Amino acid sequence: MTLYRAKDFIDAYRVRAMSPDINDLSGRDGRPDITSHVASRLADELELCQKDVIADIGCGDGALLKVALERGLLPGNLIGVLPTIEEVRRVNLHLLREFPQLREDVVVLGVSDATSIASDSVDKSVCNGVFLLLPDVAAVKASLNEIARITRKGGMVLVGEVPDVAEAEITNPVPGNTAHRSAIGRALQVFSDKGTGEVVRRLKNRLVATIERRVHVLSPPTTYWTSPQDFIEIADSSGLRFLRMYRSPTLTMTAEPAENETRWNYLFLRM
Ligand SMILES: C[S@@+](CC[C@H](N)C(=O)[O-])C[C@H]1O[C@@H](n2cnc3c(N)ncnc32)[C@H](O)[C@@H]1O
Repeated sequence: MTLYRAKDFIDAYRVRAMSPDINDLSGRDGRPDITSHVASRLADELELCQKDVIADIGCGDGALLKVALERGLLPGNLIGVLPTIEEVRRVNLHLLREFPQLREDVVVLGVSDATSIASDSVDKSVCNGVFLLLPDVAAVKASLNEIARITRKGGMVLVGEVPDVAEAEITNPVPGNTAHRSAIGRALQVFSDKGTGEVVRRLKNRLVATIERRVHVLSPPTTYWTSPQDFIEIADSSGLRFLRMYRSPTLTMTAEPAENETRWNYLFLRM
C-alpha cells in the first residue's frame, strides 16, 4: 500500500478517484451503507418531485443522483458537480453503466464557488459534506453566493454536514476525520472511541488495500466550523432564508440510524 499525503482536499479526492472502490469518492471508506443512508435522507428532506432540477455540488460517488433517479426524477434534470476531471470521468462512467438513460456529462467539472451551472436554473441544490473541507470563511461566503446564484427563486438549498466545533481538535473525532495523522495515535483514538470492532475493521481494510496495492490518502485536517447563528447570517446575506436545521444523519457501527454529534444540516429557501 502506498501512502499519499494530499496537499488539500481537492487533491485528496483527485487521488481517491483512482480507488477500485467507488465509495472512496464519498470519503466514507468502507461504509457504503452510510453513504446510501445519507443520500436517501437528503432526498427525503428535499421532498424531491418528478420535475425537479437538482444539483448536487460535491456529489461524491453519485449516490444522491442515483436515489433521485430511483425516485422518478427525469434523467435530464440531474446535475452533479465534482472538482477534478479524474472524479468527473470516474463517476460519469459509474453512473452510466447502471443508468444508460443519463446524459454522458451528468457530472460536470466545478467547485462549490464556481459550479459552471446556469443562473436560476436549479429547483433544489444540495451541498453535503463539502463545506467542512473549505479553507476559510471567504470560501464559505463565495460558495453560498454561488449556490444562491444557480438556484431559482423559491427553490430549496440543503447544505449538510457543517460542523459546529473544531472536529480536528476534539478528543472524539468523527468517522472519516483524519486529523490525527500519526498512525498509532489514530489507532489509539479509534480504539478508545469505537472499541476493538472498529480497529479490526480498519486493519482489515488496510490489509485488503495492501494486497490490492491501493493508495491510502492522508488528508489534511478540516478547519472550517461555525456556530449555527453565524452560518445562518452568512446564508441570509447570500439571499438564502433559513428554514430549519437538524443533526446530520449517520449510522452506528451496527448500522442503526444515528445523529452526528458535531455536524448539522441546514435547509434554506432561495429568496
Ligand atoms: C465527504 S465527500 C461528500 C460526498 C457526497 N456529497 C456525500 O455526501 O456522499 C466530499 C465531496 O466534496 C468534493 N469536494 C471537495 N472540495 C470541493 C470543493 N471545493 N467544491 C466542490 N466539491 C468539493 C469531493 O470531491 C467529494 O466529492
